[in-house]
This record gives sequence, structure tokens and C-alpha cells, in this order.
Amino acid sequence: MPPARYRRCSQLMTEPRMVEQYSMADLLAGGTSVTSTMQWVALAPHLPVPVSLDEAMLLALGRLSPERWSAPDTPDAMVVLERLVAAGLTFRDDSPPTAALQDEHALTASAWWTPAAVMHRLARWENQDSVEALREAGMETAAGLCARLGAPPAAMFDPGPDAVALPPPVQVPFDAWLKRRATCRNFDRTRALDLAALSQLLWRTLASHGEQREGEQAVFLKKNVPSAGGLHPTDAYLLVQDVDGLEAGLYHYHPGAHALSPTCSRTASGDALARRFVAGQDWFANAHVLLILAPRFARTFWKYRQHPKAYRAVILDVGHVSQLLLSCATEQGLGAFVTAAINEQDIEQALGLDPMQQSPMAICGIGLRSEQMTTSEFDPGRHVWQPVG
Ligand SMILES: Cc1cc2nc3c(=O)[nH]c(=O)nc-3n(C[C@H](O)[C@H](O)[C@H](O)COP(=O)(O)O)c2cc1C
Repeated sequence: MPPARYRRCSQLMTEPRMVEQYSMADLLAGGTSVTSTMQWVALAPHLPVPVSLDEAMLLALGRLSPERWSAPDTPDAMVVLERLVAAGLTFRDDSPPTAALQDEHALTASAWWTPAAVMHRLARWENQDSVEALREAGMETAAGLCARLGAPPAAMFDPGPDAVALPPPVQVPFDAWLKRRATCRNFDRTRALDLAALSQLLWRTLASHGEQREGEQAVFLKKNVPSAGGLHPTDAYLLVQDVDGLEAGLYHYHPGAHALSPTCSRTASGDALARRFVAGQDWFANAHVLLILAPRFARTFWKYRQHPKAYRAVILDVGHVSQLLLSCATEQGLGAFVTAAINEQDIEQALGLDPMQQSPMAICGIGLRSEQMTTSEFDPGRHVWQPVG
């Protein structure tokens, strides 16, 4: 039988890291008990976590091709390659398809640019409580932040003596309406949101308002937001918590049918889930509806293949959707917010998403504003909150 041949995974970056370890020996020798050692790690976006490498593994990876199969020269080299196979970083030409190999094929097919794929895979949170983390660091208020970090870089640059003063802007009702947008952190859950109001908002911000077809298969949608390549990769999932006439649970919004499809995990709902989704931010978890904005990467990467700008374009797309959501909610007299402090991994599990195919980028929330401000909002001009008394 011919010897097994190997290739490495197609997308891979390596990083030298300083790893801190507890050391009793160091403590007994009068040290701090923490020692630092150098450790190579493989960052492979088809795998869920970084993989530690010793130098033999690092060298072997550097010699393997991602496309061409090759046989090891020596038994020792084969031992190293088998360790890389066990770690999911290398594949054998004679082995049945493993989960790592299937994930690697799917990743290659979706045309990610490797650094973006690594960044995306590793930046996703699981079960984080962002509020607790900030509180522990004393950084949950502007005062606490400045005390800890000093003043931030200047809010504006100096215009200089040659700056050309612009004519005073004309104030029309649109300007007053723009000023009424403030990130809402106070929702009134004693009242339910009207289904018609939710429908209106979804129609304006997420629905398709026209189509263009190319041949049998290719469809391009027209929406009220711009999108890189006109591809509109961003889907919205809704965690409905308190809407009159709509059962609480998880739904997937259909932009063509303007309809909500219940997801398989529909029974999963409740305060704990919402809180988990928004990483412990109770003021956001309390919104009547959470909208999870989750792009399908392959849709944008179909045109921008392995493109260094493609992931950025996807993030910008999500930002446009969220801004329109906030604007339209304001116009409807609703409170709204956007946050990127979300537990992506928990959301993906609840929705059954493969993170490298489709993944949440941001959560928006909408609902009825409370009359009481319990959690602070930023409204220095008092356009939303009237002075008390
Ligand atoms: C990308 C993004 C992420 C945000 N994440 C959070 C967040 O995690 N928690 C929060 O309370 N506000 C969040 N905000 C809201 C900002 O804190 C808010 O926009 C800012 O303080 C200015 O206030 P304003 O929106 O009322 O003008 C986020 C805003 C943006 C655009």
C-alpha cells in the first residue's frame, strides 16, 4: 500500500504568543509565581479555537502545500504530520471526511480572505457579560473611563485660520426629527408593541422593494439601504418578546414575502436568552423586539472573492441597515438601539448558524420608550427627555 500523503488546510495564519503560566517553582524561588513562555499558535478559521504548535509542527506546516499532497520523508516527520491531522490542521488523502475537512471545504467555497476569516472567527463572544467586565474595571460611566484612561483623543480637529465658514443651515421639520434619535436604554414593558408598528418598521428597513433578474438563478434586490455590489447579504432574525398578536419567540424575516418564518428553535425565548444575546446589558434585553443582523457572507464574497475589502463592506452594510432601523423607529415614535456587544456564539447556537457562513454582526432593539429614565441616555439637547419639574 502506498504511504499516506498529506496537505495542510488552505487558510492558516500563525502567531507567536507570550503565554503566562502559574509556576509554584517560581514562587518558591521568590518570584511572582507567573512565568511567561513563548508559544506558537495556528489560527485556522475552519477550527473553532487557536491550536498550540510546537516548533516541529510549525516547521512541518511551513513545508506542506495546501493543494498538493505529499508523503513524509521519514517516520519522525510522519509522527509530526499525524499530530497536525489530529489537531485538524492537516489532512490525509486516504482518510474519510472529518468534520474539520468538511468545514475547510465549506470555508474555501465561500471565498473568505484569510485575515478577515481569522478575525471573524476569533472575535466572536460566548457567554460574556460585558456589563460585569466594565463594572469590575470601573469603566461603566464616562467619568470612570476618564479616571482610568485619561481624556480620549480630541473630539474635533482644529479648523485652522483658513477654514471657510459655511452658510447657516435651514432648520426644517426633518432636522427636529433627526434630533429625536437617541439610543434607547429605557423600554416600557408594561405595554406591548403594536404588530402594525413592527410591520411598518420591517417593511421600511428590511423589505425588498424591487428585483432584477439575470438568467434563471441570479436575483438582485432593491432595498431602502445601499449594499456593496447590490448583494444585500444581511438577514434579520427577530427575538420577539412583547408584541400584540405575535407569539414570543425567534423568527426569520423574509424580505420578499414581508413575513416572519418561525425558526426551529422557536421555543427558546425569555429574558435569560435576550440578556445572553446582548451580553448582560439588561437595558437592551428589555426591548420589545431584538433584531439580530446576520449577513450571509458567501452572498457578498460571490463577487468580492478573497477580497481584502469584502468583510469591511459586509460590516458597513450592517451599519446601514441599523442606521435606517434607528431612523425609522424614531420617525414612528419608537425607542431603538444598536449594539455590537453581543454573544455571537450563543446566538449562532440558538439559530443553528455556521459562523463562517452566516453570523450575527449587531443587534438592534426596538420598543416603546419608558416615561422614566432608569438607565442613562445621551440627550444633552433634551430632545427626547424633557427636563423634570
Ligand atoms: C456600533 C455601535 C455599538 C454600540 N454598542 C453599545 C453597547 O454595547 N451598549 C450601549 O449601551 N450602547 C451602545 N451603542 C450606543 C452608543 O453608546 C451611543 O450611540 C452613543 O453613546 C451616542 O449616543 P446616541 O446614540 O444617543 O447619540 C453602540 C452604538 C454603535 C453605533
